[in-house]
Amino acid sequence: MKQLLATVTAAEPLAAFHLLTISALDLPQLRAGQLMLARPRTAHLRESYLRVPLFPIPSITAPNTCSVLIVRGEEGWTAAETVARSQAGDELDIVAPVGNGFTLEGGARRVLLLGTPSWLAPLIALAREAAQKQVEVTLLVERGPYELAPVLGALLPVEVEYEIVANLADSLKPVLMWPDQICAAAPAETYRALWEQITPLGARARSAFAQAMLAPPMACGFGVCLSCAVEIAGHPRLACVDGPVFDWADLAL
Ligand code: FES
Repeated sequence: MKQLLATVTAAEPLAAFHLLTISALDLPQLRAGQLMLARPRTAHLRESYLRVPLFPIPSITAPNTCSVLIVRGEEGWTAAETVARSQAGDELDIVAPVGNGFTLEGGARRVLLLGTPSWLAPLIALAREAAQKQVEVTLLVERGPYELAPVLGALLPVEVEYEIVANLADSLKPVLMWPDQICAAAPAETYRALWEQITPLGARARSAFAQAMLAPPMACGFGVCLSCAVEIAGHPRLACVDGPVFDWADLAL
């Protein structure tokens, strides 16, 4: 993990999101599911003492460049608002990489991605990673309060199939036997709704068959503040150090 200054090279609205493109010569290569913590370099401490956790989507074509998506009008806390207001040319003070991302299993040829609208970025990043490895990808996203099709159409590789569904649990059954790996990024209540369908498959396949992201609020990003404590396999763990991606079978739901 290192601290660096990055430049916002583009800032544009994309449907219900702010889409920021960020570049830095020393930007580390982040895996899908790893985070960066960011705040505007010039923000007054009163506005953004803490950096905000963001899931970067690495660029396919430009090195040392990534995008971040922030829902417009729902940033929630001041640091996110100040990052979302960034314009081209502004600088961000970044700490990265934070945590451990998704791992595409070596033998996986068909990966099913499951998520909800607030968690699109790590799934888009993973879809790009998988597509680059010639892995077939299907993404199911539960419909949310804002339009998702323009975002998915703009940011997913063309070979990735996606569907925006009314309810993930209801839509899972017809495709459940298709993947040889499942990766999910959603709130815990969504995992609870999917538990009975996914868990028996993992038990039959292998322990890493399904991975799930748990990303509670994070303040420090390196295991000091304890704000991101979660229960994993019956033990307390820190999402910023031990996660935020965990084996599905270890979730305590
Ligand atoms: S964010 Fe501080 S311990 Fe994880």
